[in-house]
Amino acid sequence: MDIFQKCRDFTEADEARTSGYYPYFTVIHSESDSKVSVDGRELVMLGSNNYLGLTTHPHVRERAAEALAKYGTSCTGSRLLNGNLDIHEELEHRLAAFVGKPSALVFSTGFGTNLGTISAIVGRHDTAVIDKDDHASIYDGCKLSYGKVIRFEHNDIASLEEALVSAIERNGDGGVLVVVDGVFSMEGDIAPLPEMIPLCRRYGARLMVDDAHASGVLGPGGEGTAAHFGVTGDVDIIMGTFSKSFASLGGFIAADAKVIDYIKHNSRPFIFSAAMAPPSVGACLGALDVMESEPEHRLRLWKIVDRMQSEYRRLGFDTGASTTPVIPIILGEERLVFEFWRRLLDAGVFVNPVRPPAVPQGRALLRTSYMATHTDEQMDLVLTAFERIGRELGVIGS
Ligand SMILES: Cc1ncc(COP(=O)(O)O)c(C=O)c1O
Repeated sequence: MDIFQKCRDFTEADEARTSGYYPYFTVIHSESDSKVSVDGRELVMLGSNNYLGLTTHPHVRERAAEALAKYGTSCTGSRLLNGNLDIHEELEHRLAAFVGKPSALVFSTGFGTNLGTISAIVGRHDTAVIDKDDHASIYDGCKLSYGKVIRFEHNDIASLEEALVSAIERNGDGGVLVVVDGVFSMEGDIAPLPEMIPLCRRYGARLMVDDAHASGVLGPGGEGTAAHFGVTGDVDIIMGTFSKSFASLGGFIAADAKVIDYIKHNSRPFIFSAAMAPPSVGACLGALDVMESEPEHRLRLWKIVDRMQSEYRRLGFDTGASTTPVIPIILGEERLVFEFWRRLLDAGVFVNPVRPPAVPQGRALLRTSYMATHTDEQMDLVLTAFERIGRELGVIGS
């Protein structure tokens, strides 16, 4: 059979395009901020992960521009060989201090960070124990490793314990790495680390937390989920991405120096991939400066989040267990999600419709997310649109 047959048989996207219900690859003609320009119209952006709104912050732009001017556009090679800049190392020192770990390592993408870390740590005789709702990059990091994988029910401590028991039984001499999202990317709920840590200890497992949606957002200074719970010393690997609050591109892990040194010399996605580009490093350094010196962005974000969380609930929407800037509007049925999405677009609101497999069957949702640069007027417009459309579609009562 022609290996391309599957491409010719793939008609779903064409069908959605023809029906006018195709929500992907929307072309944006403006910078990434609280409003964006699409097809000549201005939309309120509720689909971005720019939580602190730093993509347009003058200091972040300036540090990216300085790095571009000094180091050029690319490192054209791996950190291991020719691509290791002083600013990569400066960023690693700053990040380690920021999250409260001895050492850190930066990668060129967040996805590659999970691939590179999990596959380096989980060897042939080891087991990765992961939450069913973990991000795709965690699943793929496990696939890339030669170890066993056991999934546990989302945020369910009894199920985690069962998974650990079964890992130990099957493992022989191998070790166990538990990997969870700190803030879950689709439903915005938080992993219960204080309950997970004693179990990891009891069964001799190490714990890695993906803080993609928590860095800059949770914790007293935006340090992430471990700091939010006051358990930084008990989380073995803190992972983060730069494509969200850091307003850049890349990812990092922070851990003990020996762990970082091992990953640095044994992670294929790290070694055989080019270093993070200089302007991205500059933007990250700028974002860290801002996170450390201007808490007002995080405080403003939380003010908006508190308002939106309580308004959606007051209107009667199901927002699941979210307590963060990722607020899902859970509708269940895919058709309803796409109809709601289309009407929101017409009303000037950009959200992301999410369907299985990105969420479990029967939990299709509109993913909304908030940023410090959203204005109160924009939020008024959003709530008016949600209320009207929610009533039109019978999602909420009149
Ligand atoms: C929880 C989580 N981990 C990892 C990633 C990958 O990060 P990046 O998009 O920066 O490569 C994402 C991005 O969507 C994410 O949500």
